[in-house]
Amino acid sequence: MRHMYLLSLGLLALTENILMQTPCGRGYKNQRRKCVDENECESDPPYCGKNAICFNTNGSYYCRCHEGFAPTNNFTQSDAIDCTDINECVNGSADCGPNAKCINSEGGYNCTCQTGYISSNGKEIFNSGQGVHCIDRNECDDPSFCGKHATCHNTAGSFYCICAAGFRLKSGETNFTDIYKSCESVCEIDKSICGGGVCKNNKDGLECLCSSGFTNYGHKRMKCTDRNECDD
Ligand SMILES: *[C@@H]1O[C@H](CO)[C@@H](O)[C@H](O)[C@H]1NC(C)=O
Ligand SMILES: *[C@@H]1O[C@H](CO)[C@@H](O)[C@H](O)[C@H]1NC(C)=O
Repeated sequence: MRHMYLLSLGLLALTENILMQTPCGRGYKNQRRKCVDENECESDPPYCGKNAICFNTNGSYYCRCHEGFAPTNNFTQSDAIDCTDINECVNGSADCGPNAKCINSEGGYNCTCQTGYISSNGKEIFNSGQGVHCIDRNECDDPSFCGKHATCHNTAGSFYCICAAGFRLKSGETNFTDIYKSCESVCEIDKSICGGGVCKNNKDGLECLCSSGFTNYGHKRMKCTDRNECDD
């Protein structure tokens, strides 16, 4: 009797041992003598790597890259896949709308208006799908934009300045977009413009006031030349 009892105990211990060690298939683990799903998604370091989501399934798992990362298919660790950012600005999927620039970011992209345009919501950076659009910035709203002696002309995405009559840039140009330049009186730039006379700016431009002995024959903007008194 005592024999039997010990034997049974021994058998019990043995079976328990066997059961405890019952090898569970891949993806399962032994828990209270049962094979239960192993949650691969809890492993550290993660099976799926960076920028991926892990989905546990009964007996297995699969990975998928976060949105905005590639590839887009399901994979497992053995595929040795690194999820990498999709550059939406390069692959053509970005939609920032007209007159805007695309800025790639990890997992997505942002938009900003091109130079000369401002966003309809006033924010420098915006997302597509927010209904924001880029509108022409009217540089000429600021009356001093072109400086003194110049008028400002707004264009789509830009502007230009025109020197007033009788004024120009030192370089000789009258139209310009470089606001660090300024229009100066032609009388100042070219001191000899009136020859034998005094140059003056007026509302039509400039005029030469001839000194005595000089004339421009009534053409106010012409150089004063020596008057030939013998013609009188
Ligand atoms: C998981 O699969 C195993 C083997 O097919 C099955 O015995 C078990 O009931 C399943 N567990 C769940 C939670 O579905
Ligand atoms: C990934 O696997 C899940 C579950 O099996 C499935 O529903 C889904 O369609 C798969 N996605 C792709 C892109 O294969």
